[in-house]
Amino acid sequence: MKFNPMYLTKEEESILAGDNGEMLSKLLRLLVELGDSYGADKLIEIKSAHTVLNIGLRFVTAAAKILRDVAEAGLKVKVRTTADPIIDMHYEEELGAATALYQLQDQLEADLKKIGVHGFTCTPYFLDNKPNKGDHCAWSESSAVIYLNSVIGARSNREGGVVDIASAITGKTPNMGLHLTENRKGGILYKIKVDDYNLLDLTSMGLKIGETAGSVIPVIEGLPNISFDELKNLGAASAASGAVALIHVLGVTPEAQTMEDAFQGDSPKDTIVITQDDLAEMEEKYSTEWDDPPVNIGIGCPHLSETEVKEVLNRIKGKKVLEGVNFWLCMCPDVIDTIRNSEYNEIVQNSGVKLAYHCPMLVPAPRPYTTNSAKSCVYVNASYRNIEECIKLATEGR
Ligand code: F3S
Repeated sequence: MKFNPMYLTKEEESILAGDNGEMLSKLLRLLVELGDSYGADKLIEIKSAHTVLNIGLRFVTAAAKILRDVAEAGLKVKVRTTADPIIDMHYEEELGAATALYQLQDQLEADLKKIGVHGFTCTPYFLDNKPNKGDHCAWSESSAVIYLNSVIGARSNREGGVVDIASAITGKTPNMGLHLTENRKGGILYKIKVDDYNLLDLTSMGLKIGETAGSVIPVIEGLPNISFDELKNLGAASAASGAVALIHVLGVTPEAQTMEDAFQGDSPKDTIVITQDDLAEMEEKYSTEWDDPPVNIGIGCPHLSETEVKEVLNRIKGKKVLEGVNFWLCMCPDVIDTIRNSEYNEIVQNSGVKLAYHCPMLVPAPRPYTTNSAKSCVYVNASYRNIEECIKLATEGR
């Protein structure tokens, strides 16, 4: 389908014409062409951006080159901009030879900092990049986007690397997708028929929702007491097993306090009941079983909140991680500082857990790998276990 070109202000036309330099013109053109191809009517101002241009592996060479051009042109981000996690080189020894694969890392990080990107985590809302309800944003990182839309009530599409940088530099995004109220209308009603649930059950629900929702927005009935941290993990699972970028949890999501709100006055197109059997099916489907005991155990995909870290540390208190096992707790650098400067640091020291700011999925070797993260299990081969079992494996082995 061909749409009419979007309306551009005089200032935008002048930027496109190259009056503010060639690089800025190119970045704006990227957004204009993206918007035109999806039928956006105009560009809108954003309040915040988040990029997935964070890892200096060879497959990002082309994107890293664009970033370099942006940095060399002296352009700076217009809004608060963060990036996904980078490698935590405090653990160079544990990460092993894999660190040599990150040939572009130093350059990439230097260029990100040069254009004004600060803060490397997939939970930027635990740093100072936390927009307000209703703010328009340009975030990539699917787990962060779904949190932004579903918990904060701000608005972002699932952007991609380079488009996110173009928005951060210009301060604009095309007015389309989840920026429009009508596109945030719920489509499928999910009824949770599970008597009792823990975090693993919630993330398994997320997997099931992601698999079945397609491009329709899910509305969940039956989880009125879910915490924001739990919703972070459920949402990340849905965004990994499917294309979901917004979930309405009735009574929790700002725009979905009632059924009427969530479906914007319409009726659900479909209703799906999730039972205990569905959760068991997801656990089996996404878990890889290894013959050997785990070498790496990772918790913190998405990165952990301070509350979540403290919960894990309270559970491991008095126990010790086995020799030869890396038990990773991953979080943003600020949360690491908070924990290290608190009474919880004693538990960290005594138990031998490793607090790191990398993405646990970037721990490439050696396998076998075990995690409580449904998202990780979608992307890599890993045993899918609840936190209790992860701690037991780390401290007692099989
Ligand atoms: Fe974050 Fe890495 Fe998971 S970026 S959401 S910890 S895959």
